[in-house]
Amino acid sequence: MIKHFLSLSSFSSPDLQALIDRAHFFSLETKHPDKIRHLLKNKIFANVFYEPSTRTRCSFEIAAKRLGAEVVNFVPENSSVKKGETVYDTLKTLESLGVDGIVFRHSDDHVFDFLHHKFDLPLLNAGAGKNEHPSQGLLDLLTLHQEFGKLEGLNVAVCGDIKHSRVAGSLMVAAEKFKFNVFLCGPEGLIQETRNVHVFKSHFDEILPKVDAIMMLRIQLERHDELELDPVSYHKQFGLNQKRMNTMRKDAIILHPGPFNRGVEISDDIVEHEQSRIFKQMSNGVFARMAILEWAIQGNRS
Ligand code: CP
Repeated sequence: MIKHFLSLSSFSSPDLQALIDRAHFFSLETKHPDKIRHLLKNKIFANVFYEPSTRTRCSFEIAAKRLGAEVVNFVPENSSVKKGETVYDTLKTLESLGVDGIVFRHSDDHVFDFLHHKFDLPLLNAGAGKNEHPSQGLLDLLTLHQEFGKLEGLNVAVCGDIKHSRVAGSLMVAAEKFKFNVFLCGPEGLIQETRNVHVFKSHFDEILPKVDAIMMLRIQLERHDELELDPVSYHKQFGLNQKRMNTMRKDAIILHPGPFNRGVEISDDIVEHEQSRIFKQMSNGVFARMAILEWAIQGNRS
């Protein structure tokens, strides 16, 4: 059976830890690119993004190239999608053309449910609606693990539009696996209820002094029908700024999956604050995706 990379929930915690360790190994190999350039030689991946992306698409491409693979970047706007071709037929076409794996992003939460059993090559979830973003989850775990040397028992707050965030979705799955705590903060109505025993609703200003990490999320206006955001009042209530940073522990770190809206959920000066690991997350995105691509090919070798 083909092994797809669709959700962190399908991995055991030791298997996820092995992926984190492999990603960390790749992070140490940047000075010796020749040592790893053969690992996916002669493989071809297709990047198929039906939603915009900067970090995920570029880092999957760089990850593939670092391991010696080639990449086809499929752009729906310039393709036969414009002539009515369906998602299934588009992916099936790429499979027929001979790619070895498809990195796929779509706005439908459940897009993989009807696709995954119809393909004889690995499908890699690069973001499915507001459901899961498992490669982002892996890079977030890598960043936390590099920082604290462990995941179990950590306290991570997430503040923002959690209801529409696939990043928060994957983090909550990971919290269950590794037994760390996630505290959800943000506007009432944008925080989902959860039955995960490691996830708690919380008050932003009360939880900030207690956490190891705060992950800020933007309001995903593209997933709201009617919400009108007043950036100034949002920032006052839920923005991370120097005043709030002053209440945090000096060893606590700031995370944000990007893209970030400076001055809304995070103030301009905090993006590159010494406690910020936002750009570290982006770098780790390449290493995490190298581990995922390698897993996808090795796990499917007969
Ligand atoms: N974090 C993230 O998924 O960013 P992109 O939308 O730019 O890929």
